[in-house]
Amino acid sequence: MPGVHIACWLVALAPAATSKEPLLVRAAKGQAVEKTPVWMMRQAGRHMKVYRDLVQTYPTFRQRSETPDVSLEISLQPYRAYKTDGVILFSDILTPLPAMGVDFDISEGGGITIDPIRTRDAFDRMASAPPFCPEKDVAFVGNVLKRLREELAGTDATVLGFVGLPFTLASYVVEGATGTKNGFAEFRALRERDPSLCDDILSLLADKIAQYAIYQIDSGAQVVQVFDSWAGHLEPDQFDTWALPYQKRVVEAIKAARPDTPLIIYMAPDTHSKGGALIHKLASTGVNLVSVDHTVDIAEARKLLDAAGYEKVGLQGNLDPAILRDGSPEEIVSAAESILQKVGNTGHVMNLGHGIEATTPEENA
Ligand code: CP3
Repeated sequence: MPGVHIACWLVALAPAATSKEPLLVRAAKGQAVEKTPVWMMRQAGRHMKVYRDLVQTYPTFRQRSETPDVSLEISLQPYRAYKTDGVILFSDILTPLPAMGVDFDISEGGGITIDPIRTRDAFDRMASAPPFCPEKDVAFVGNVLKRLREELAGTDATVLGFVGLPFTLASYVVEGATGTKNGFAEFRALRERDPSLCDDILSLLADKIAQYAIYQIDSGAQVVQVFDSWAGHLEPDQFDTWALPYQKRVVEAIKAARPDTPLIIYMAPDTHSKGGALIHKLASTGVNLVSVDHTVDIAEARKLLDAAGYEKVGLQGNLDPAILRDGSPEEIVSAAESILQKVGNTGHVMNLGHGIEATTPEENA
């Protein structure tokens, strides 16, 4: 049956002949690449005038992030301005919460308000919300990701999705606000008072967040970054109990369902995470890349991961956002080049150590 043979031959050739994966995807997979890809955390947002202008027309964060045409436009703004290799969905880690039984609001000053979950009764109400159905509940996210892929077809740019990890999301859910202002006191008290309720909250979030990440991948996200921004304030034993197991649960569930999609993990610098103190634990979750903040030298971060047996886990980062905000052009270039020289092209994605500061001049970016 010669026809069958020809068909099989064509199928076997097709992927290599027609679709080389974009630079950032290849780099995230640890492949040798011709240059280091770059994007910036929180690249879409307040530091850009085109964004601030849009705020006049769409005054609330939820409008801007939940109206597909607007979110699509904002996601593309930094790509148009800087030709970043990564284009991240304009959204928030809190976006899926209403569909998980927790409503929220964000004020223009960045203040977050949530009706907090601190009792078994409140949790039961959260858990009895209709089953999370991303296709229906957050269809606007899928719509934007799909259209980003269409807009960027034929370019070498990569579409990134993202989710918050259970500990960081639970900190908002339990505090009813950001925990950064009170040292996460409510969540700490609840862990002491009712650890089993905390486990239930974190487990529920873990399972739904994994489902949400898989939905983003199926909608067009080619890489997913998972954020546990606030887990670095936990003492090491607390981190092992309350952050790491749920990070693993999310990463393992995504990898089991969509093994080909690279994952990047990020945690902000804090008392117990600075200096790269926890990066080997982040690497142990099964991600492809660990995004490192600017409190560790990137060569040191590489050594730490290698020494812990994670030679295959790559790095993202780690330019200090303050240098990007305040530095002269020469200082910025020199700080960036120093990072690039220390880690080389392979197994590295250039980025900031945290999000771009809202007051960063666009010329600097
Ligand atoms: O900053 C991080 O550590 C990343 C993880 C994270 C995001 N949102 C991802 C994000 C965290 C911790 C949040 C919570 C959140 N949401 C805050 C922090 C509040 C606090 O102190 O606890 C705020 C202010 C928001 C609301 C929000 N989200 C705004 C105003 C914006 C616009 C961007 C900006 O900063 O001007 C966002 C967008 C956002 N949050 C993105 C991501 C990945 C968009 C994609 C991007 O461009 O990176």
